[in-house]
Amino acid sequence: MMRKIFLIGFMGSGKSTFGKKLAKTMHLPFIDLDKEIEKKAKCSVSDIFKYLGEDTFRKMESETLKSFEQEQSYVMATGGGTPCYFDNLEYIHSQGISIYIELDSKSIYNRLSNAKNIRPTIKGKKEDELMKFIEETFDKRKHIYEQANFKVNGLNVDVKKVMELLKF
Ligand code: S3P
Repeated sequence: MMRKIFLIGFMGSGKSTFGKKLAKTMHLPFIDLDKEIEKKAKCSVSDIFKYLGEDTFRKMESETLKSFEQEQSYVMATGGGTPCYFDNLEYIHSQGISIYIELDSKSIYNRLSNAKNIRPTIKGKKEDELMKFIEETFDKRKHIYEQANFKVNGLNVDVKKVMELLKF
């Protein structure tokens, strides 16, 4: 049986951390989309943004997302922007199911302000600029994230509960 699970949500919502746990419990391979893009490009996401620009990154992101078509099953942590570009969300739903890891902008802000320099979209932003960026970007993306098949609270995501949700 084909079983592909895509975790979507804003930067800092915990997609990778939770994805690893979920994959381990379900005995499925775990794929971190940002890491796969970096492997393919032999370059960090930060440098792709810096030297090739966001448009090129978005194309690479979409291509990499679709490069696992032959795999039967996996859990994938997507990037915060992944479902928002091209036909990526449609593609995700043609392949499997999506789970939105929802977190409020204040919690996202707290998490990102500790780790902002590794993320190109927020690099070098001052505290007030960071909050403004999160709120504005979140406003634009929320309606896309909300189209996920399932939604879980990012403050206390529980592997067992999610597995019940998925009837696994
Ligand atoms: C991005 C999120 C990042 C990464 C890139 C762009 C975004 O992924 O893909 O920096 O536009 O929200 P994470 O959500 O894993 O940080």
